[in-house]
Amino acid sequence: MKIKIPHFTTKDKIIITGTIAFFIGINYWAYYTTNLYTELKDTRSEFAVSTSTLNTTIKELEEKLADSKKENENLSDVLSDEQKKTVELERERRRNEKKINTLTKLTTIDPELLKKYSKVYFLSENYVPAKLDTIGTNFLVDPTKDIQILDGVSSYLIDMLEDAKRAGVDLKVLSGYRSFDYQKTLKSQYKVVYGAGTANQFSAEQGYSEHQLGTAVDFTTTALRSAETTFDQTAAYAWLAKNAYKYGFIISYPKGNLYYQYEPWHWRFVGVDLAEDMHDDGKQFYELDQRDIDEYLVKFFD
Ligand code: DAL
Ligand code: ZN
Repeated sequence: MKIKIPHFTTKDKIIITGTIAFFIGINYWAYYTTNLYTELKDTRSEFAVSTSTLNTTIKELEEKLADSKKENENLSDVLSDEQKKTVELERERRRNEKKINTLTKLTTIDPELLKKYSKVYFLSENYVPAKLDTIGTNFLVDPTKDIQILDGVSSYLIDMLEDAKRAGVDLKVLSGYRSFDYQKTLKSQYKVVYGAGTANQFSAEQGYSEHQLGTAVDFTTTALRSAETTFDQTAAYAWLAKNAYKYGFIISYPKGNLYYQYEPWHWRFVGVDLAEDMHDDGKQFYELDQRDIDEYLVKFFD
């Protein structure tokens, strides 16, 4: 028997070869795709495991962070409480220090200095200011006299007199501190010369004069030479009316006061603080309440 070998034309060969190549290609593609898919699956599942681990780690870290924030807040609260306590303690310390300073200052200041004693408050014959300073003779209307003023007030008085001089104003001191006995002698003389009624209108009894405190000054000018009501017509008075409060001086007996006749020459040191407030409020010393006046005592020499 003879095997008949089919005869393929070139076209047939190309078709057969193409078909075989096609099937081989399909198989390879199927194999490759399956592999790729398996790899993708594996990668996905690996990724899922990693993501879940990562999420767990993130969660744990977030919890730790929250815990440490809480701890931090607690510590901040404690710190803030401690800081508040420290600030409060410091404030308390400063308040106490101020109180001690005020009390110490008050013990060194004569409590009589701001009393409204003229005619209503008596200074005994034993009352003498703690320390008196002599006023320079260049400021006196009579340079042969020895006139004194309370130590502590003298610097304010000298500043005032010097500033007045610098402003071209002729302002002179006629009288300053007067002892109980000197006031007694003076008042007796006035009574003899003017009669008791008139003398009582311009001269205090011994123990009742502001001059006994060493804080009152009578002013005049070179031309007037004495205590005159017309002093209020002078440039010296105008200057005092405008400026004396800045140096702590106020007029004791202005027009219409209830104690003595109008005394434009008689000025009293009450401390810069009180003088300024009286000036701002347009108040007179003797219409103030003693309790309000007392508040200023501690600032008397400031
Ligand atoms: N001239 C005043 C009132 C006195 O003597 O103190
Ligand atoms: Zn006087």
